[in-house]
Amino acid sequence: MPADAAFTGSIPELYERVLVPMMFLDFAEDLAAEVASSGPASVLETAAGTGVLTRALHRVLPGATITATDLNPAMLTQAAASLPGSEAVRWVQANAQDLPFEDDAFDALMSEFGIMFFPDRPRAYAEAHRVLRPGGRLCAAVWGPIEGNEAALVVEQVLEELFPGRAPQFLRRAPFGYTDHTVIRGELEAAGFTDVTVRDVVHHSAPASAQHIALAHCQATPLANELAESYGDPAKIAQDVARMLDARFGGQPFSGLVTAVFFSGVA
Ligand SMILES: C[S@@+](CC[C@H](N)C(=O)[O-])C[C@H]1O[C@@H](n2cnc3c(N)ncnc32)[C@H](O)[C@@H]1O
Repeated sequence: MPADAAFTGSIPELYERVLVPMMFLDFAEDLAAEVASSGPASVLETAAGTGVLTRALHRVLPGATITATDLNPAMLTQAAASLPGSEAVRWVQANAQDLPFEDDAFDALMSEFGIMFFPDRPRAYAEAHRVLRPGGRLCAAVWGPIEGNEAALVVEQVLEELFPGRAPQFLRRAPFGYTDHTVIRGELEAAGFTDVTVRDVVHHSAPASAQHIALAHCQATPLANELAESYGDPAKIAQDVARMLDARFGGQPFSGLVTAVFFSGVA
């Protein structure tokens, strides 16, 4: 598994507890409403993570069957704990680039903030097209550029101050590295999707302390893997980042712009 996609160890619990409430909830509600608008009976989710979108769709469309998949079993274990005993939702470990499902099996496919981590996106879109029934709809979201995601941007700036000229590049490379509308549209159309739409969606992150922002970025994402590999103890670095952010924020909670790119296509 690529290190950038390794949401393992202590990451799943921190991700669900700290990162999700900070900046994922509004987008999950938006995307769930978009998926629900076509009234699908069976929905596949790829890169479901700890299940924030799964829960949102289950709330608005309780009658739909949701097959929620992810590469990392530990993320799905965290997700399943948040939706116990639901017969409508099944959790399946799966690589989005090689889906273990029949052709034409689903009415809709949804994916939120995971596609950036797929090394072979054209293959993942081909797989999405294959498992959707003709006329079925893909609805997905990725992050926009880091310049439109202010909490991540200040964390990147502080890391550059801590490690001048050699700061870790995970944030810019992975979560905020797949943002170009033209590229996204081209890859969807090349996989056979029609009626493709691509648009920016903007919210504000929930007000959070410097300590939580540092924890969210440095320890609740695979940035922790890059830090541990080449820079030192991620918990110690997160403390340094928190101290420097606190000075920037004047001790106040921070809420900034969060920008996503939503896109859809018909199989
Ligand atoms: C930032 S999380 C997003 C999780 C969730 N959708 C959300 O909105 O919170 C990215 C997820 O992509 C998953 N992922 C990375 N590569 C994958 C792949 N090739 N196939 C399936 N899931 C993958 C990771 O395990 C992780 O759970």
